[in-house]
Amino acid sequence: MTLSVFEIVLIVFTLLVLLSIVWGTIRLGISPMPSSRSARQAMLELCDEALLESIYQTINKPNAGVSDNGPVRIYELGSGWGNMLVALARRYPQHIIVGYELSFVPWLVSIVWLKLLRLNNVSVHRQDFFKVDLSSAKLALCYLYPQGMVKLEAKLTEDTGSLNYLISHHFALPHHEPIKTLWLKDVYQTPIYLYEVR
Ligand SMILES: C[S@@+](CC[C@H](N)C(=O)[O-])C[C@H]1O[C@@H](n2cnc3c(N)ncnc32)[C@H](O)[C@@H]1O
Repeated sequence: MTLSVFEIVLIVFTLLVLLSIVWGTIRLGISPMPSSRSARQAMLELCDEALLESIYQTINKPNAGVSDNGPVRIYELGSGWGNMLVALARRYPQHIIVGYELSFVPWLVSIVWLKLLRLNNVSVHRQDFFKVDLSSAKLALCYLYPQGMVKLEAKLTEDTGSLNYLISHHFALPHHEPIKTLWLKDVYQTPIYLYEVR
């Protein structure tokens, strides 16, 4: 059986894509597995609560560190293929959505997807979010892994004046109590945590 040039190019391309995803997974300690639809819905529900709560704090505690009720920055730490970024950008057209993703293929796919959907309030950066200044974010979302949560907690403790709320899919911050937890109706009863981290 002989392969055409097109077939060879296709096979090489597929192998490179797979290798890139596997390499990203080994390097970062987590695959780019997207959150399920029900997890995304639960995270959006908690985002609504966090944003409402921060508006409440602005009104009642003017020195709470929240400056105004204008557009806020919502970060996704490890945005994968961009599914959650799209959901956030559509839900909050008045806010600024920022994604960070280091794995090359998911990052590229999310860039293309966001361009095709012409969503103007969202951007995605190929950057390590552990090296990013989170102080201008009001709210961040993540779906990481246990060691990643330990590292993230250390970053939040070190970065004073850092973000106000964190929503985490599945994995908890080791030394923080969530202010609210939702459990998905899946076989694992996956938790989604909302933390106040100020
Ligand atoms: C399980 S996926 C979640 C994707 C997306 N947040 C979602 O819920 O659909 C975790 C993603 O975090 C990315 N990631 C892990 N550590 C990272 C880091 N330090 N900087 C940027 N991205 C990271 C991984 O490449 C992976 O795509």
